[in-house]
Amino acid sequence: MTDSIRILMCPPHHYDVDYVINPWMEGNIHRSSRDRAETQWEGLYKILKDHATVDLVEPEKGWPDMVFTANAGLVLGNNVVLSRFYHSERQGEEPHFKRWFENNGFTVHELPKDLPFEGAGDALLDRQGRWLWAGYGFRSELDSHPYLAKWLDIEVLSLQLVDDRFYHLDTCFCPLTNGYLLYYPPAFDFYSNRLIEMRVPAEKRIAIEEPDAVNFACNAVNVDDVVVMNQASDNLKARLGDVGFRVIETPLNEFLKAGGAAKCLTLRTTEPIARDVRAVDSIVSKTITLQGHLLDAGIINRALDLVVEGGGSFQVRNFNLGEQRQSTSSAEVHVSAPSNAVMEEIVAQLIDLGAVSLPEDERDAQLEPVLQAGVAPDDFYVTTIYPTEIRINGQWVRVQKQRMDGAIAVRETENGLVAQCKILRDLEVGEKVVVNVTGIRTVRKPESREQRGSQEFSFMSAGVSSERRVELVVEQVAWELRRIRDRGGKVVVTAGPVVIHTGGAEHLSWLIREGYIQGLLGGNAIAVHDIEQSTLGTSLGVDMKRGVAVRGGHRHHLNVINTIRRHGSIANAVEQGMITNGVMYECVKHNVPFVLAGSIRDDGPLPDTEMDLIKAQAQYAHVIEGSDMILMLSTMLHSIGVGNMTPSGVKMVCVDINPAVVTKLSDRGSVESTGVVTDVGLFLSLLVKQLERLTSPLAVKG
Ligand code: ARG
Repeated sequence: MTDSIRILMCPPHHYDVDYVINPWMEGNIHRSSRDRAETQWEGLYKILKDHATVDLVEPEKGWPDMVFTANAGLVLGNNVVLSRFYHSERQGEEPHFKRWFENNGFTVHELPKDLPFEGAGDALLDRQGRWLWAGYGFRSELDSHPYLAKWLDIEVLSLQLVDDRFYHLDTCFCPLTNGYLLYYPPAFDFYSNRLIEMRVPAEKRIAIEEPDAVNFACNAVNVDDVVVMNQASDNLKARLGDVGFRVIETPLNEFLKAGGAAKCLTLRTTEPIARDVRAVDSIVSKTITLQGHLLDAGIINRALDLVVEGGGSFQVRNFNLGEQRQSTSSAEVHVSAPSNAVMEEIVAQLIDLGAVSLPEDERDAQLEPVLQAGVAPDDFYVTTIYPTEIRINGQWVRVQKQRMDGAIAVRETENGLVAQCKILRDLEVGEKVVVNVTGIRTVRKPESREQRGSQEFSFMSAGVSSERRVELVVEQVAWELRRIRDRGGKVVVTAGPVVIHTGGAEHLSWLIREGYIQGLLGGNAIAVHDIEQSTLGTSLGVDMKRGVAVRGGHRHHLNVINTIRRHGSIANAVEQGMITNGVMYECVKHNVPFVLAGSIRDDGPLPDTEMDLIKAQAQYAHVIEGSDMILMLSTMLHSIGVGNMTPSGVKMVCVDINPAVVTKLSDRGSVESTGVVTDVGLFLSLLVKQLERLTSPLAVKG
């Protein structure tokens, strides 16, 4: 027995599962057996008594989770940081633990109220005392970590927990003697895993698999070479054995019903203090002002979610609620992050949300020169679809040619500085590019309550499209198409070959003929199958009238390609009377520009198909410029390309039979996209019917 090691436990006389505050407790209310719990607890107690001195704190009636003394507080030397429980269900334990600590001569530090921290359940010392690992994400707040650093005078490394089954750090992380670490990596976010890997060399990391993790193998008590836990697989026992540890298993399943096991049932009250450690925490904070229809448009929820999901934490310091429907609100949000890198990531996302200003650092955008053509400096700011401004010499400058996934290039011209979105390959040596996240803001039209209403229309909020919903979308799209045509606006279509296979060609042809479409974007296939259908009556060899494959039909599309190649272009084939109807025919006849972008699988291809993708992208961008609406008809590839090139404010309607495609394309986080899951041929036929109805003399009202 090692006299110098003391452990605090609390007998389970009042233990039960009385409420649900973690996923393990679900379905287990009053399902644990007190007798079995007593026996299992005794088992653990006996084992630990062989290796340390075990002190006991008196259990209190009405506080069933008091058995989990790990959550009493965090002890280092003579100091203890008392827990502040996140859930009211456990807050009543605080005074009892506090009394025990005071009676035993500890100096008790108490966190500000409403700043949760759950003691040694969420804070684990490196076993050589070099630093403290502290968890956050479920029970403890990141902002409690600087207090730990200060009061315990130790470096704190913050780890974000992301799997709610492993809601306390000690459920998935266990520092062991000699710098070893037993842990379950998927319970942590990306940055935390990186931090762990930086501090603990690979040969000392014992990463476990899910079956061991859910048996609480990481919730182990380690004294010297002994590791006491509920249960471990043979493989894990062997791995621990190989590096000199002896595993002692002791059943604790009664406590698993409450989400705890060996480590949770103990608190080590003698922790090694290393000589030369000192208080450090790398937590960075910033105050950010949000402005807009924060509540109505849900901006505040989205912003706070972004902070938490991004690995930070927040305090809302001031909230000025706009009283009238039209008045905007403002909020000051204090954001903390475990490191600068995480903070930058969070701020970049908040900027993309619009409505954000960083008053404390009204600074110019940071610019770095392009040193190699087509390559941006590291940490360049990645653009979004939203109108963006950057601050240069104290002035906000609007970025031109807004598009997604570009960099912001700044050039000196006679008319002053010009900032422009550019794709990487277009960056030129000597240009400057915006890096990091200072001095950048996105400008959003304030989303009002009314616009939120129209978002209900979008696929994201509606789930699967019902038949009635398809009709509603068709009505809305028809109405807008009509208005855009009447004011001389621009509608661009991206279309896949499915438009033809599903019988949509005649309807799309009608739309072009009637002046509803001002540009067509697609690939080789849509043109081939359209021409195949208009000249041979089949689409990919299928008879479009009867819906059956035609003998020898699989050669049809190649014959078509060959014939057009002979003519030299689609336009020539139209002029020479080879093509007399269909989508491509109408484009040629009505001077509607089309771009066919090639791909690796294109047969032939058609002479019109642009196989140089860089050129094809430029041509697409040219056709899209100035459009009011984009109809994306069953082509994921071309639609995603178009989506990236298009600034916000352009209405997008995405039609696809595959919900995943619709979700992906409609998810621009803006009110301007509408998705509809349906057969595209059917959609087009409904759309044409609706437009005919709108234009028929009977439909003209007042
Ligand atoms: N039912 C308790 C809770 O949810 C279990 C605590 C387990 N303790 C621990 N250190 N992981 O708070």
